[in-house]
Amino acid sequence: MQHRYDVLVIGAGGAGLMAALYAAKGNVSVACISKLYPTRSHTGAAQGGIGAALGNVAEDHWEWHMFDTVKGGDYLTDQDAAEVFSKDIIDAVYELEHMGLPFSRTPEGKIAQRKFGGHTREFGKAAVERSCYAKDRTGHMILQTLYQQNVKEGTKFFNEFHVTDLLIEDGRCRGVVAYELATGEIHTFHAKAVILAAGGYGRIFKITSNALTLTGDLMSIYYRKGLPLEDMEFYQFHPTGLAKLGILVTEGIRGEGGILRNDSGERFMERYAPTIKDLAPRDIVSRSIISEIREGRGVGRDKDAVNIDLTHLPREVIEGKLAEITDLARTYLGMDPVKDLVPVQPTAHYAMGGIPTDLNGLCLSDGNGGSIEGLYAAGEQACVSLHGANRLGTNSLGDLVVFGRRAGIYAAQYARQVEFPDLPDDPQRDTKDMFDGLRSGSGKENPALIRKEMQESMMNNVGIFRNGPDMEKQVEILKELKSRYQDVNVGDPSLRYNSELIEVMELGFMLDCAEAMTASALNRTESRGAHDRADYHTRDDVNWLKHTMAYKDLDRPGNVLIGYKDVALKGFTRAFEPKARVY
Ligand code: FUM
Repeated sequence: MQHRYDVLVIGAGGAGLMAALYAAKGNVSVACISKLYPTRSHTGAAQGGIGAALGNVAEDHWEWHMFDTVKGGDYLTDQDAAEVFSKDIIDAVYELEHMGLPFSRTPEGKIAQRKFGGHTREFGKAAVERSCYAKDRTGHMILQTLYQQNVKEGTKFFNEFHVTDLLIEDGRCRGVVAYELATGEIHTFHAKAVILAAGGYGRIFKITSNALTLTGDLMSIYYRKGLPLEDMEFYQFHPTGLAKLGILVTEGIRGEGGILRNDSGERFMERYAPTIKDLAPRDIVSRSIISEIREGRGVGRDKDAVNIDLTHLPREVIEGKLAEITDLARTYLGMDPVKDLVPVQPTAHYAMGGIPTDLNGLCLSDGNGGSIEGLYAAGEQACVSLHGANRLGTNSLGDLVVFGRRAGIYAAQYARQVEFPDLPDDPQRDTKDMFDGLRSGSGKENPALIRKEMQESMMNNVGIFRNGPDMEKQVEILKELKSRYQDVNVGDPSLRYNSELIEVMELGFMLDCAEAMTASALNRTESRGAHDRADYHTRDDVNWLKHTMAYKDLDRPGNVLIGYKDVALKGFTRAFEPKARVY
């Protein structure tokens, strides 16, 4: 079956819905393709808030937010992106409010704001209330609000469709191919412009806050075409996932006064970040928790967690402002944060890297300004280099709306100016070849075991603490897993709801993302932000103030080619940091 739209958006989370909304406002026909029913997208799991310098609770300025974003990103952040972001997000939050998003309120009725790790006033002097929130269900509210707006604007949704290929020929995107879960039918979507916004790939790790669907499909499809993935070595672990499960426990819990404690009840963050303590940026808190665990001060049967303590907070704060995590702890652990300490451990949370884009969302084909005509990306799947080496909490929701909006505007503008490009001769050929391959393997290998081995080894070898020998080992493990993947076989011949086919296909996509991440991390011989190497323990601005561009070597399977891209600087340097450090 074939469809035709001026602008196609892949993914219906915050970035996809904002992009679709703004494309639809741009007088072009718009369709949105999603693996899920849109309001089940992973943006709904974001809890703590969206950071914007509104100054509703304490004085704040976009310049302070820009500085925090650059510093939080350990100076790998592109400062032009941080400037656009810190300015635009203020207006975007008010826009969400006017669309009807039910933000929590201050006593005077303004949008409420709370503290979040790494957000400061006066360029690092003290923590500031910048996170605008709707209880601890901010992402959920953004998703509902943007979906309603899209329905109103007439966006056409294709739900439970899995994109299997991007149609790129002669440097121009011409549409996508997708598999319809309900029928098994393969569809060709012909488009003038395509926006990729399908989220991250946290499922390559064993413990993750990411939903089951976050398997890096479009990143892998891009990479398989010999196009680059940027800064894949930078992957953020959120300090607090529910123990064993990885489900997010918002940082907002510490913004409201929650305290991390080790097995003896000690508030251990006082030792690691004496001034800002539990509100230090999440890479610092994650490493501190792992150090406590490694040094034998963990809690729980396996001593692999620490506790978060809310018991000193009033019940109305816990059940009011932190209603979601209270429900999650009661449901999944049978624990009540009002009276119990809740065990948490770092959880793979967010990809700082992804498909490289410029400030308008246009996808880049190299590190020297080359691009793919008609192809845009936004959100976690993209890398506009806003987050550098480490994202600040609340900046992901901001990224979705600011850069989703820009991608939608520019894709629509482009689509209004051009004719439909020709489709390739046999657009579904590569998808059919991929499915044939998955159905014709020897069946010697079990995909569930390959997935488990990938997730465990990535956690151990390319997780929070890294070193050369472990990552070299991981390169070999991934080569072996990829070779075994050739021997899996999708035995289920069904057309309708063939979840086996989907899971095996997703495993192939994840193996690619793991390969690009491991090669990029091994190549970067320094420590910066979320990339912490025991064998190169210091930051090296002389040699490494540059973005990594990882390319699949199409001639030598298993080999990754590394290139670089300059960091956009705009005045914030380490020398600018105030003497009075907050952490
Ligand atoms: O802790 C949180 O609520 C997560 C926020 C984020 O990742 O931005």
